[in-house]
Amino acid sequence: MRLSLRDARSDIGVFAKAVGRPLTSWQAKAMRATTRIVVIVAPRQAGKSRTLAVRATHAAYRRPGQLVLIVSAGEDAARRLLAEVRAIVTGSELLAGSVTDEQQQLVRLSNGSTIRSVPASERQIRGWAADLAIVDESALLDDDLVLSAVFPTTSARPDAQIILASSPAGAEGVFYQLARAGEQGAGHVATFTWRLADAKWISPEVVEAARASLPVAVFEREFEGRFSDVGLEERVIERGWVEAAGGRDLEPAGDAAYGLDVARFGSDSSVLALAVGGVVRVVWSVHGSDLMSLTGKLARTLAERPAPVWVDSVGLGAGVLDRARELGLPARGFVANAKPIKPDRFRDRKAEAWWRVRELFRDGLVDLDPRDGELAAQLAAQRYQLSSSGRVEMVSKREMGGPSPDRADAAVIALVSACGASGPGSVWLRFARREVEKQAAAAPVAPPALRGLPRFERVAERGVCRCRPGVRRFYLGICVVCGGTPPEGQ
Ligand SMILES: Nc1ncnc2c1ncn2[C@@H]1O[C@H](COP(=O)(O)OP(=O)(O)OP(=O)(O)O)[C@@H](O)[C@H]1O
Ligand SMILES: [Mg+2]
Repeated sequence: MRLSLRDARSDIGVFAKAVGRPLTSWQAKAMRATTRIVVIVAPRQAGKSRTLAVRATHAAYRRPGQLVLIVSAGEDAARRLLAEVRAIVTGSELLAGSVTDEQQQLVRLSNGSTIRSVPASERQIRGWAADLAIVDESALLDDDLVLSAVFPTTSARPDAQIILASSPAGAEGVFYQLARAGEQGAGHVATFTWRLADAKWISPEVVEAARASLPVAVFEREFEGRFSDVGLEERVIERGWVEAAGGRDLEPAGDAAYGLDVARFGSDSSVLALAVGGVVRVVWSVHGSDLMSLTGKLARTLAERPAPVWVDSVGLGAGVLDRARELGLPARGFVANAKPIKPDRFRDRKAEAWWRVRELFRDGLVDLDPRDGELAAQLAAQRYQLSSSGRVEMVSKREMGGPSPDRADAAVIALVSACGASGPGSVWLRFARREVEKQAAAAPVAPPALRGLPRFERVAERGVCRCRPGVRRFYLGICVVCGGTPPEGQ
C-alpha cells in the first residue's frame, strides 16, 4: 500500500505505522480525541510514553510552526522521551531534515515545528506558549506545577490541547479529579482508561509475579490502572491463612530464631517466641518488664535452647538488649522504626517484616499452635494502609484499638529472622550463629529441657534431627534446637 502523505497528516494511526511505531486501536483512539484536555489512565508498561512520543511528533509534523511541550516527572524520563522522539524522526523519510539540539532539549522539524522535552520544573516550563502540552506520569507531579505552570502554557492558543497520562496514584489530586471529570462527561475533558489485558506485549508471568508480591492496592494501581483509596485499611494476614497455619503440621527444620517483644506499658506483656523455619510458638509471656528478671529469664531459656534472639529494642527493649549483650547472649536489636531494606515499598522495618510474614502465611509455610487462639487473633487483627506514595505502613495499635498485639509482634520478629530471605534476619543470622557456636565451644550447653513446646518434640519421637548443619547442636545425643537425634554417620 502506498503511503498517502495526506492520510499520514490527518490521521495519527496512519502516521504511526509510517514511522514504524504502530499504535493499538485503543492507543490511537485516545490520541484522536479533540477535547481541550485528554486524560489517559493506564497501567505500567501500557505504552504511555511511546504513544505520547508518537503523538508529539505527529502534532509537530501535521502543521508547520507548532510548539509541542512534553513534561516528564524527572530528568531521565525527559531525556528518554526526547530520545524516542529523535529515534522516530531520524528513522522515517517523512521527517527527513529534522535536527536535534540536546542542549536545548529539543527536536526541530524541517517545517519549523519544535518538540521540547523537559523535566517538571517551573524554570523549564514557564514562559512557553505551546500548541500541545503533554504531561507524562502526571500523578507524580506536584499539583501546583501542573496548574500554575503547565496549564498556562496553552492559554495563549485557543486550539491548544493538554494531554495528561499516568498510571494512577492515590484517589486525590489534579490528575484524579480531571480523570473523574472526563468519566462523568465534562465537555472539555475526555478520559481514557487502558487495561493491562489489552497490552499483548506484557507477559502473563510478569503480571502474576507482581500480583503475588505487591500489596493489593499497589497492584490495582500499577497493573490495572485503577485509583486506590489512600488510607484504606486492609488486613495484612487473611484470617483464612491464619486458620490454615493452625491446622498445619510442618517439620521444625531450618534456621531457628527467637523474637522478644518487650512490654512498653503496664498492661502489656513481654513475649518470647521461637521460630524454627516456619514453625513458630510462644515460649513464654510475662506480665510487665522488669529488666533484670526478664533478661535472666531470657538467659535461662537460651541456655536450654540456644538460638539467636532479636529484641524489639525501641523504648524499654533497648535496656533488655544491652543487658543481654553484657551477659554474652547472642542478642541483637530489631528496630521497628528503622529504615527498611526496600524504602520505596515500606515505611519502616516493621512494615517490611510483617509483609514478609504475610507472604509466608500466604504460601502455606507457617505452622501455628492450634491452641494459641490469642496469637491467631492478634496476627489476623493487624492492618496496613498505603501512604499517598504507595508505601505500605502498619496501622499502629493505638489506631487499631483492641488489646496489644505482643504475641503477634514477637512471632513476626522470630519468623522473619528464621525465614527471612528478604527479612532482617539473613545477615544477622550468620553472625549470630557464629556467636552461638563460639559460646557453645567455650562452655558446654546445658541439657535440653523439652518442655513447653510440645510440637517440637515430635521430631524427637521420630528421631532424626533435620536442622541445617550450622544450626544443629547436639548435647548428650539430642539436638538442643529441635530435639532430634543425630542423622546417621554423625
Ligand atoms: N502499540 C504497541 N505495540 C507494541 N509494543 C508496544 C506498544 N506500545 C508500547 N509498547 C511497548 O511497551 C513497552 C512499554 O512502553 P512505554 O515505556 O511507552 O510504556 P509506559 O506506559 O510509559 O510504561 P511506564 O509506566 O513504565 O512508564 C515498550 O517496550 C514499548 O515498546
Ligand atoms: Mg512511561
